[in-house]
Amino acid sequence: EKKVTTNTVQEMKRRGEKISMLTAYDYTMAKMVDAAGIDIILVGDSASNVMAGHETTLPITLDQMIYHASSVVRAVKRALVVVDLPFGSYQGDSKQALNSAIRIMKESGAHAVKLEGGVEIIDSIKRILSAGIPVMGHLGLTPQSIYKFGTYTVRAREEAEAAKLYEDALLLEQTGCFSIVLEKIPSELGKKVARAVKIPIIGIGAGPDVDGQVLVTHDMLGMTYQFHPRFLRRYLNLYQEITNAISQYVVDVKSGDFPNEHERY
Ligand code: KIV
Ligand code: NA
Repeated sequence: EKKVTTNTVQEMKRRGEKISMLTAYDYTMAKMVDAAGIDIILVGDSASNVMAGHETTLPITLDQMIYHASSVVRAVKRALVVVDLPFGSYQGDSKQALNSAIRIMKESGAHAVKLEGGVEIIDSIKRILSAGIPVMGHLGLTPQSIYKFGTYTVRAREEAEAAKLYEDALLLEQTGCFSIVLEKIPSELGKKVARAVKIPIIGIGAGPDVDGQVLVTHDMLGMTYQFHPRFLRRYLNLYQEITNAISQYVVDVKSGDFPNEHERY
């Protein structure tokens, strides 16, 4: 099967075909996500929460992102693999941003990087693009700025922030980003941005009128516990399924039922 490239997803927008994207942080999950036919796999810095149990995405390091990314790349045959640049690896210093992006590309074999922000990080984005590394933007609720926002609530509800987001999206397109993630913003704004730019807009809580959707895989599989934002659709309740299976294993070990006559040498 043909590999998905940045050109493929741009062509999909032109054709009006929706783009599917999910996260993965490890080999085993990435195998399943890729085999199921997802277009883009994001090695998100949400690994900080989902894999490491931190409260925010801020603590995860570049080395840790490279470990997750290289594990995912080894599994993937078809999807485009995009990796988040972690907090502190690209803001304020375009040279450092370039070095961080080069390390991800070289040491993991991923296909593109994602950075949070608009005009304030544009020099970093330009410098990464100038090295031939594809960049995905990320606007709206950008979790690396959680201590500026104060809450994980919907962004760009009022005029000034909506206008800035719109201008940032146009700037990211002009600068050469191949796509943009819009997180937790009003549907009307998602639609307006997706219509204004030629590059694919991938939404998470950005409504239906964008070019694709992304979720955190562990959330949509119901592996994460007590997280119920409106934008999340749960396809399984794996938290319950897995704890039930493990409880049964404990019972079987304690009772001597496992291993039985077929499960021994
Ligand atoms: O880190 C992540 O999982 C993300 C997606 C939610 C877009 O950035
Ligand atoms: Na992220």
